[in-house]
Amino acid sequence: MDIVHISAECYPVAKVGGLADVVGALPKYQTAAGENVKVVLPAYDTKFKKENSFENVYSGTIQLGEFAYAFDVLKETTNKLGFELYLVALPEFFDRPDIYSYPDDIERFVSFQIATLDWLVSRDNLPDCVHCHDHHTGLIPFLMQYAYKYQALQSIPSIITIHNGLYQGQFGYDKLHYLPEFDLQYVYLLDWDHCINSLAAAIKCAWQITTVSPSYLTQINQQANGLETLFRSMRYKSKGILNGIDTQLWDPNKDSYLKSNYNTQTFEIGKKENKKALCALFNLDPNQPLFSFIGRLYEEKGADLLPQAIAAVLAQMPQEITVLILGSGNPDIEKQLTALEGSYPRNYHTYIGYNEELAHLIYAGSDFLIMPSRVEPCGLNQMYALRYGTMPIVRKTGGLQDTVIDFGDGGNGISHNQASVEDIIYSIQRGAKLYKDTTAFTKILLSGMLEDHSWERVCQEYLALYNLLINP
Ligand code: GLC
Repeated sequence: MDIVHISAECYPVAKVGGLADVVGALPKYQTAAGENVKVVLPAYDTKFKKENSFENVYSGTIQLGEFAYAFDVLKETTNKLGFELYLVALPEFFDRPDIYSYPDDIERFVSFQIATLDWLVSRDNLPDCVHCHDHHTGLIPFLMQYAYKYQALQSIPSIITIHNGLYQGQFGYDKLHYLPEFDLQYVYLLDWDHCINSLAAAIKCAWQITTVSPSYLTQINQQANGLETLFRSMRYKSKGILNGIDTQLWDPNKDSYLKSNYNTQTFEIGKKENKKALCALFNLDPNQPLFSFIGRLYEEKGADLLPQAIAAVLAQMPQEITVLILGSGNPDIEKQLTALEGSYPRNYHTYIGYNEELAHLIYAGSDFLIMPSRVEPCGLNQMYALRYGTMPIVRKTGGLQDTVIDFGDGGNGISHNQASVEDIIYSIQRGAKLYKDTTAFTKILLSGMLEDHSWERVCQEYLALYNLLINP
């Protein structure tokens, strides 16, 4: 099967969050399963692009309103990622270091989508299915179906996977002329709430919708930033498929970012060594249970609740716990978290920024990983934590709810119902208490390490779905 994934992120090429991890892994496992898989991404000015070699496989020009932009499609030559990687080079829009948050993001991603389709339609070998990820690629199912110049792609199934339905890629009708020509009677398919809404267009036009966990599919029908009724009406073509994790990249026994590698047999000494190394980096007390948070510091992730919750637990048990934060995002939250440092130098540290290498060491060296998310379509960090023998503490939502069961119910972690300061405090207290019962705690962690969250199984689910679309 010829499969094309189109996305704004893909690890290790360009990463902001979990979307990159998924688009870096699923295609790799699909290729290993014998499929022909391409991943198409904008050519950002990233380290990966500078350090790798590419060959030019296509050149074209797109028209965005009255302006024309030349583009090239670059193929990574060594195939070392385990799938074919293509970068769409549109220098005016993407020769910049960051992935998102420029004032012309709409122009950037609309032009990326058009250039990608121009290239795909020009090829002799058309794909068997086109798999889009999030709103940055949300116009593609519509354009494949209705743009005159992409008529050859009309009978190819399109899939949209929703990693995060909060962001939708809305823009005004003043930009409608950016899109390649189509019969205007179909313009309603682009519309949501008197705007062009890229995600809504994908939900309406894609042959198949998937969300990254079953629970998120249920939740998105009730709460989806205005798209609830649309999701409900499209339920018949929606499916929740829980993400996997890349068990080759995330393997405590082989991970080169760790101080010491370990497996279930060498768990105790391995965790200890990593914790010692991690705590030494930030002058933290290694003799207390270490509670960490890794992620973007936004309300969506519940990060706004952390400063108050952490201040409270540190005040209650200053000598009994250690807390480490790795993340960046909302400057207010960053400031509040950093401000706590002065009072508890041996028990608290905030690292503002993102650091993939440090993240690996944190999974290995921590005892607990806190994920207090308000919304979590899937969440991968809890699965990384489980594999590294670290207990997840989660709010019951989306994929967190599908992967973490409270130890009180015989499960693998700690979970609470509300996105509230009180619930986080309560969970940390329960964790600190459980930590003291070393035998019980270790037993839960070891069985967590053995859980199978690999992509092999999940990858088959996607392939079965494509097959059903191709041969209904
Ligand atoms: C987004 C979601 C996260 C999910 C990831 C990969 O980042 O917020 O929950 O795990 O995409 O699908």
